[in-house]
Amino acid sequence: MQQSPPQSRHLEALLDFYLASGVDAALGDDPVDWVRLTRIHAEQRQQKTPMPPAGQAGSGAGNLDQATSTAANLPAAAAPSTLAGATAAGQTGQRGSASLTDHGAIPDQAAIAAARDLAAGAANLEDLRACLDSFEGCNLKRTAKKLVFADGSPDARIMLIGEAPGRDEDLQGKPFVGRSGQLLDRMLQAIHLDRSSVYIANTVPWRPPGNRTPTPQETEICRPFIQRQIELVNPDVLVFLGAASAKTLLGVQDGIRKMRGRWMAYSINGREIAAVATYHPAYLLRSPLEKRLSWRDFLSIHSKIVQQ
Ligand code: URA
Repeated sequence: MQQSPPQSRHLEALLDFYLASGVDAALGDDPVDWVRLTRIHAEQRQQKTPMPPAGQAGSGAGNLDQATSTAANLPAAAAPSTLAGATAAGQTGQRGSASLTDHGAIPDQAAIAAARDLAAGAANLEDLRACLDSFEGCNLKRTAKKLVFADGSPDARIMLIGEAPGRDEDLQGKPFVGRSGQLLDRMLQAIHLDRSSVYIANTVPWRPPGNRTPTPQETEICRPFIQRQIELVNPDVLVFLGAASAKTLLGVQDGIRKMRGRWMAYSINGREIAAVATYHPAYLLRSPLEKRLSWRDFLSIHSKIVQQ
């Protein structure tokens, strides 16, 4: 079989994504650039009505519902544990330490406190990566092959956050490089973005064994790091890929069907970052019909960055 050149393979992949999103017929003689149209509509709306602050009603594409949630609503992590062997950071003056119990397990509360202390002290992204490399408070690190810290540009205006790395990501040390990552690339391409124009990370930076869901404790231990990562990247728009990352970072309880496409706010240092959840690409691979809705979400994301 004849191989298509790389450029046309990209175009074929993009057409596949359009097709799966329900764009299956050309209704006119002239092609319609929906991304350009969304931008023009957004600009027109912006001229008519002054933009409300990020995360408040009326923003986003079309009539997307609105909800405001703040990271401040999140349950505060509990105080350092008194479990045997736990040395929480701050108690000992030793940053980021959490020693093992007699049973070889790391006590969760001590690990959470150590993670918080370590993350807060990271001055920049490289420092944060180094903190994670040296952190021994999460058991997932013991089974993972590599730390999966981030991909893309730290200067990006859009930051996408998934749940946890899978097998391919663990092997390469980069988020979203497997099948779901390839679909994500096509979705980004559909709104004229690529990996160099976004920043991608996960709530949990180590692969859980067998791709199981991270436990609430593991997620809680990793949460200070991703929170600091968001703070350091300081994007204009946050995109949660799947419900898990949105629940962890926004404290929302809704399922993804209810939550997706609604603009929310992620509060950090007195600033609100516009945030939206959309279907996880892995889910879209299993339920291709839902790509129609994720296409809407991506158009909404596109118009949000134009507005800001
Ligand atoms: N799924 C995720 O949530 N993150 C990855 O990096 C890959 C798959």
